[in-house]
Parts: sequence; C-alpha cells; structure tokens
Amino acid sequence: MCGIVGILARDAAAPQLVDGLKRLEYRGYDSAGVATLEDGRIVRRRAEGKLRNLEASLVAHPLSGRTGIGHTRWATHGAPTEANAHPHAAGGVAVVHNGIIENYRELRAELEGAGAVFESQTDTEVVAHLVAQALAAGATPRLAVQQALKRLRGAFALAFVFEGEEDLLIGARRGSPLAIGHGEGEGYLGSDAVALAPFTDAVTYLEDGDCVALSRSGVEIFDEAGAPVSRDAVRSAVASVVVDKGAYRHFMAKEIAEQPEVVGHSLVRYVDMTTGRIRLPAGSDFDFSGLDRLAISACGTAYYAGLVARYWFEKFARLPVDIDIASEFRYREPPLTPGGLALMISQSGETADTLATLRFCAAQGMKIGAVVNVPTSTIARAADVVFPTVAGVEVGVASTKAFTCQLSVLAALAIKAGRDRGVLSENDEAKLVSALIELPRLMAESLHLEDQIEKLAPTFAKAQDVLYLGRGTSYPIALEGALKLKEISYIHAEGYAAGELKHGPIALVDENVPVVVLAPYDALFEKTASNMQEVAARGGKIVLITDQEGARHAGETFATIVVPKAYAFVSPLIYAVPIQLIAYHTAVFMGTDVDQPRNLAKSVTVE
Ligand code: G6P
Repeated sequence: MCGIVGILARDAAAPQLVDGLKRLEYRGYDSAGVATLEDGRIVRRRAEGKLRNLEASLVAHPLSGRTGIGHTRWATHGAPTEANAHPHAAGGVAVVHNGIIENYRELRAELEGAGAVFESQTDTEVVAHLVAQALAAGATPRLAVQQALKRLRGAFALAFVFEGEEDLLIGARRGSPLAIGHGEGEGYLGSDAVALAPFTDAVTYLEDGDCVALSRSGVEIFDEAGAPVSRDAVRSAVASVVVDKGAYRHFMAKEIAEQPEVVGHSLVRYVDMTTGRIRLPAGSDFDFSGLDRLAISACGTAYYAGLVARYWFEKFARLPVDIDIASEFRYREPPLTPGGLALMISQSGETADTLATLRFCAAQGMKIGAVVNVPTSTIARAADVVFPTVAGVEVGVASTKAFTCQLSVLAALAIKAGRDRGVLSENDEAKLVSALIELPRLMAESLHLEDQIEKLAPTFAKAQDVLYLGRGTSYPIALEGALKLKEISYIHAEGYAAGELKHGPIALVDENVPVVVLAPYDALFEKTASNMQEVAARGGKIVLITDQEGARHAGETFATIVVPKAYAFVSPLIYAVPIQLIAYHTAVFMGTDVDQPRNLAKSVTVE
C-alpha cells in the first residue's frame, strides 16, 4: 500500500510529483522517490524515510524534466532502504508500484537466468526487467507493458515512464486503485483523486485489468484482453486544499477534537432532526425486513466498529450477525445466503482485505452495503448501497473520528433495521434517536477530561503491559483502546471481555500493570465491578472510566475518569473519547511519532 503518481507536466514535473505524494503519504512513509526524463534519459532521486528527505535531496540535486513518476512506500519486500525505494528502473523503463507481485520469486529467477542484474530486494523490480526485456525484443512501450502484465500474479497498480518518450505515461491496475487525471495539455495518474486534487478535478477511475497510455493530447485505455475501451470521466469532489493541523500539535489531536462536529455531520445524514426519525441518505435506502442474517467484515478499528454494531443489530433488530475480520472472513468459507446483506466498514474504502471479502460476498450473491468515509473509493464504487460517514479527511494513521462516525452511522442503520423488521416501535425509535442527537454534546463534554487524562500519561508510559476490560458494547471499545495505545505508544496492550480475565489474562496482573476498566453504570456494571475487584486484589492499577453513578459505586481505584451519563446504547461513542486521549497523551509523553507511527500506514492495500 504505497502511493503512486505520474505526471505529464508543462514545466518541471518534480515539484508537482512531490505535491501529489504529500497527499499520498498516508499510504506509507518508509521511503519516497521520483524519476523524470532529463533530455530523454531516466534520472531518479530516492530517499529513505519520509517525503521531506526526498524533498531535501531534490533541493540539493534538482530535476527539470517535464515527465515523471513518483512513489511513497510502505515496505513489503525488502527493508525500507534507498536501494529498495521506488522508482525501479531497468533497460529504458522506470516503474512505481503499489501492491504485491505474488510470483516475483519465480520471475526473478527466470530474469536472472536470462542475465538481468537486480539492484533491490523488491518484488517491483521484476516488473521493470520484464518490460525492459520486451522493449529489447522490439515491443513498443505499451505492448511491452501489456506483455509484462500477462506474466504478473497479485494485486497491483503500476505507472511507467520510458527513456526517450517525453509524451508518454503508462498506467495499469489489477486489484489496487489507479485514477487518471485530465488536464489541458497535461496528464496525470494517481493512486486516488486526493493525490490529483491539486492539478485537476476531472478524473477517470480505471477498471480492474485496465491499462492506459497517456499523452498530453489524450488517453487510450485498454481492457485486460487488450481491447480499446472508454471509461467515463467524473468530477471529483475532493477539495484541493491541503488539510492542516490548525492550532493543534498533531493531526490526531485535531481529529479527536473534531469528533462532536463530524459525528453531528454524519448523523444529520441519517436522522431527520425535526421528526426524530431515521431517514437514510438519498441513494442509500435499504430495507432490512427480509434479511435472515447480516454479515459484517472490516479490518482494524473499523472491525471494532462492526463488533459494536453486532450488539445493536442483534438487540434492536433481532438480526443475527456474522462478523469476522476481513483477512479471515472468506477463508472460513461461511455459508452465505444469496440476497442477504454483507456490510463492509472502511474509512479509506481501499483496504485490500475488506475489498477481497466484498468480492467474495458479491460472488455468493449477497447484496453489498459499504460504510465508507471516502465516497470515490474502490469499496464505495463496488458496493450496491453506500452508507457514507462524514468524518472529513482523516490524516492521523491511528483512526479516531472515522471510528466514531462509523459507530454513529451503524447505530442509525441498526435502528432503521429494527423499525423495518417490526422489532422497534415508533416510540422506541424516537427514544433511541434522541440518544443519538445528544451525542455531539456529550462527546464535547468528554473532551473536557483531557487535562485529567494527560496527568495519567506518565503512569501509562512506564508500563510494559496495559489491559483494557469491558463488557457488552464496552468490550469492543476495550479492544479499540488497546489497539490505539499499541499503535502510537508501542506499549503492549490487550483488550479483554471483563468476564474472560479470570480465565487467563489475570496471570499478568501485578502492581506494574495499569488496567483500564470501561464500565458505564448500566445493567452490566455490577459484574464488571466484581472483575475490577479481582484485579485490585492482585495489586493492578485500576483506571476506571465510568459515569457519576458508577464512580459512586466503584470502590477504590488508582484513578477514576468520569464521563457524562448517556443512554447505554450510545456509551461506546462517549467511552471512545477517553481511550483515544489516553493513547494520545501517553504517546506524546513518550515522544513517539503520533501521526505516523512506525511500521503502520493509513490505508493498507495489500492482503
Ligand atoms: C490500517 C489503519 C487502521 C485502520 C485499518 C482499516 O491498519 O492503520 O487505522 O483501522 O487499516 O482501514 P480502513 O480504511 O479500511 O478503515
């Protein structure tokens, strides 16, 4: 899941390539590189680490060519070194690549057997050599690429430049996204419309298997069989303004703070504020009444949103939910009923595992619903019905506002399902909707806990292990709390169902282990409080997150964080705020790279 961009510019391409790459850095930041044609010859600049290192190298050694490709890398094959940085070049061609070439070992052995000399450990370099081989045998650039594509297995998007071809960019996609940007006397390729936003809003999304040859005067697109095809250009609504941190120190802090607002924006799309009824957005209507089961699949934080939603759909709509992480879902080969609904949840809409599960479910005749934050994404475009979240652009790699927006949309869908299926009365709907409407205010109140939570950061920072416990819908929030902490502070953390603690994890507890207990004062409080006592008896440092009433009944703790009292149904959204703040302030205290933590990427487009 790297970011790729290609430009046929009027002036020097390198500054524009860097501008496009800045918007793609969310896809990976292990290295960056560009290649441009300097008097017809391919010249590369590459640098290990973040894009700013490449920028420094371009300042020291500028490039003036008007034709170029660029790349930002999330390492899969080979360490994040300069030698492994893209573009990779061989015999008159340079290539940038997003995805994985699954059969690269065989291809590399074959190419080396034929005399090719490799300079990197990447899977990508075989593509450069395959194309170079075809060029040497007399093929035109396009045919050389098409011949090479036939040899590749895996999921990928590619962009190429060729020595002596000032007016040619070639792109190809299979499995990974690639968009063409149209300009007057210019042409662009990019992993998504966000990368192209500074240059154009006229965008064509390539279909799977497509290959495109761009020149400054137009584009020619070919399908997987090599036949010329036409694909529509659309207006991309992605704003070209660069998202900035405003007065915040990190994007993550800003995104946590934005939650009351963006949850409000998302809810407005699903709730008729005047009648207090659920009303799905235009074009997103769906009737849940005929369903036997609902399948939900997602990755990472989005999966935890799905886990919360399972409680809601089963309780409010009596709809059995089959949920699994997307990288496992299809390998279980679950029996799926044609006509059933499979719901994919994804911030980016590009996550490869989620997309593969979507395709698996579609092939079984399921209808596909997608809860996505990027309406132009591959998952959104592949779905039958899109349920948009309106979180705005999320830059911090650790997801925060996208998560709570997913929860708010899923909550609205569960109420809709409950009404469609005759489980909820109009009165029930009104009560649940009024709880949703209060959310932005209650989340804003939760943000006031920041100073108190910041004071706990040194305690967490000292810990080697942290446990998070919750019951019912607080359980997935415990999982999310542990994920947030490990993602950005690198402290080992695990979330457990509070009742499961005694079946093993309690062995870890001693006076050095902070145990974060998420326990709203609801029907499950007493039971969670007993589990908390089991921890206290073993010296564990309890950080209890609860409401006023819970705090009164809790007994002694190391720290108690009191969140506003909310209707039990919406507590996952309220409790998400303090667990995000714990992770954020611990990471800031430890001095880690909060917005771009090591080894991670915002969007994971490899399986
Ligand atoms: C990556 C990100 C996570 C995210 C997950 C799923 O691992 O680092 O923050 O939850 O992908 O991403 P998606 O875009 O599908 O929600």
